[in-house]
Amino acid sequence: WAIHAPYVAAINALKQERSAVILGHNYMTPEIYHGVADVVGDSLQLAIEATRVQGDVIVQCGVHFMAETSKILNPSKTVLIPDMQAGCSLAESITAEGVAEMRAKYPGAPVVSYVNTTAEVKAASDICCTSANALAIVEAQDSDMVIMTPDKYLAQNVANQSSKTVVYWDGSCIVHELYTAEDLRAYREYHPDVAIIAHPECTPEVVAEADYTGSTRGIVDWVHKHHPKEAMLVTECSMASNIADELPEVEFAKPCNMCPYMKKITLEKILWSLHTMSEEVIVAPQVAEKARSAVQRMIDLSR
Ligand code: 13P
Ligand code: SF4
Repeated sequence: WAIHAPYVAAINALKQERSAVILGHNYMTPEIYHGVADVVGDSLQLAIEATRVQGDVIVQCGVHFMAETSKILNPSKTVLIPDMQAGCSLAESITAEGVAEMRAKYPGAPVVSYVNTTAEVKAASDICCTSANALAIVEAQDSDMVIMTPDKYLAQNVANQSSKTVVYWDGSCIVHELYTAEDLRAYREYHPDVAIIAHPECTPEVVAEADYTGSTRGIVDWVHKHHPKEAMLVTECSMASNIADELPEVEFAKPCNMCPYMKKITLEKILWSLHTMSEEVIVAPQVAEKARSAVQRMIDLSR
């Protein structure tokens, strides 16, 4: 922590000066998560928090689609991202043309797009969902068939619990698709008490091995509630690092997988971002307006 202290102090001082709020995703490293973020959470929490920001500036410590969502929901704020290259394999897997292709293939079926998409894809969709509400959003559609984009595994996991026919795009998360059910079974054989807790971007086979599956917030809440002796968080590495200090009685299993996009956000870049007021995330107003309807519909259904 000592090496981070000067950055943390400088960021927190500059934050006041700029009237900025730092929204931090659960995958941020501990020095960001505990040191400088004003709000931490999963994608749904951060989207809702973005609508409540009173200050002039939002610094999104997460990936680009999250910053776009903040801008879409609170357009009068200056939204900064400390590294424009903080993308997402899911967001990169589909364009608005892809959504049109799915609509042509399955006429009349509503399009539920994961928030891990660009503003253009959101604008081309009927409604958004996050990992926290995907099943409820799909169930709420007034149609027997629902198109989900772009995460095939989230879609398959929803389909396994839904009364609807779910058709989906062929996207995946490069972090969660690496976990295999075989590895989890092998681990459990030698650690029979381990609680396996997965994110729904994992394959259905991995989800079937898990004791609990949920959004990053769901995962944090589950560990706090159940206090397992040993927990394997089948998600991004920083999740365990961020809660390990609060739960010294829980042993967190290694290994884990890192999201190279989330890890582009560092204290140095946050300070640079606040200092230079860059890089600013802009969403074209016509796109933002349509995307806002899709995100707002999701938020209204999630209350
Ligand atoms: P959550 O909405 O569960 O935080 O997930 C976001 C994400 O990108 C997971 O990989
Ligand atoms: Fe995207 Fe996967 Fe990284 Fe989440 S963990 S931001 S879904 S690449």
